[in-house]
Amino acid sequence: MSGHGEPIPMTARKSGPLKGVADVPGDKSISHRALILGAMAVGETRVTGLLEGQDVLDTAKAMRAFGAEVTQLAPGEWSVRGVGVGGFAEPAAVIDCGNSGTGVRLIMGCMATSPITATFTGDASLRKRPMGRVTDPLALFGARAYGRQGGRLPMTIVGAAEPVPVRYTVPMPSAQVKSAVLLAGLNAPGQTVVIEKEPTRDHSERMLRGFGAEITVEDTDEGRVITLTGQPELKPQSVAVPRDPSSAAFPVCAALIVEGSDIRVPGVSQNPTRYGLYTTLVEMGADIAFENPREEGGEPVADLRVRFSALKGIEVPEARAASMIDEYPILSVVAACAEGTTVMRGVKELRVKESDRIDAMARGLEACGVRVEEEEDVLIVHGMGPGGVPGGATAKTHIDHRIAMSFLVLGLAAQKPVSVDDGSPIATSFPVFEGLMAGLGAEIVRAGA
Ligand code: S3P
Repeated sequence: MSGHGEPIPMTARKSGPLKGVADVPGDKSISHRALILGAMAVGETRVTGLLEGQDVLDTAKAMRAFGAEVTQLAPGEWSVRGVGVGGFAEPAAVIDCGNSGTGVRLIMGCMATSPITATFTGDASLRKRPMGRVTDPLALFGARAYGRQGGRLPMTIVGAAEPVPVRYTVPMPSAQVKSAVLLAGLNAPGQTVVIEKEPTRDHSERMLRGFGAEITVEDTDEGRVITLTGQPELKPQSVAVPRDPSSAAFPVCAALIVEGSDIRVPGVSQNPTRYGLYTTLVEMGADIAFENPREEGGEPVADLRVRFSALKGIEVPEARAASMIDEYPILSVVAACAEGTTVMRGVKELRVKESDRIDAMARGLEACGVRVEEEEDVLIVHGMGPGGVPGGATAKTHIDHRIAMSFLVLGLAAQKPVSVDDGSPIATSFPVFEGLMAGLGAEIVRAGA
């Protein structure tokens, strides 16, 4: 468990060509939502392909604390017996969401319009992250929040006994905030309207519709206007969770920068709200074939064939940021191995993720001999070309799974090994990372192994 157990130092060494098939686990965003909406439906929801990472397991535990029956039937296969919209019980103990911003923010949303009180906490990373972005709109429904200075966890939410529907324009591009408001809107009478100026991942909208909620989405001059009719009876579903494109990014990028590599990554999402990295990689000159396009679990997917490529730096369009927000750490590793400069603008949301990801990547890349420039909202990486990154450093991961995996991927292509001080957070989102990468031929070991 990240942030609670002993740190796990890990090292990656320059590896031979990566070959084989990378079967990445289920999508984290969709897994959280399947458990939460399952808990709010009346009857039994079945989920297959659930990500059994710590973040999602913490959400499963939280749903039990609110009264749902959540059971693992087989690996990846889960049953959720929901209590219905407005049916949540008051938890008897503090809800610990571990490392998961998505978990805590969505769960705050779904309990905020019930007449119950719940106290939330998390690990040292989550306790630093801002919750005001969620509690501000929840206050409009009538909920009250009592937390630490700066809207930090631990925090108690007193749900609204008589919630009113809201109309809310999300001030930053955030699917978590949008989703928290929609989930709160489920138990408010009348119509809740959420407006987002830039589109963010739309799994909540898709899944709410799937569970039978009345929800419409309109593109207007104001932005995407999402209208939800409150107090529906959600109908239990069979949810097939597709694979996580944000996890797929690690083997894909590893294959692009390790000479001679040729791998397949089946079932990668082509959902436009999650797809920005892949568009960017192709613009950088990546040899990626998108084969067998189809639908899986209500999401468009394709099988990827990825080969080592000579890449060039590019300017990543700012408007693409929301669709690849979790992928900037691994993109900055790819950028370090490309010829020329890669400019990433409009990325200040990275500063409030599991760590300040701009700072974490900049410091680690510099330690590995890469020249980086950084502003509040910008990250610029000066590429050193294939095989050009010196490496030979230990990066600090700051309880951040994506920082850990990014530097381990860099170590596979750098001249000298790259270490991370703590790989334990990888278990939050990609528990099979080590085995999967080893299966492709990547040399990643734990200290002392
Ligand atoms: C997520 C939304 C994003 C993303 C996170 C998952 C979600 O966060 O970074 O990993 O599932 O809604 P923000 O809402 O903070 O952008």
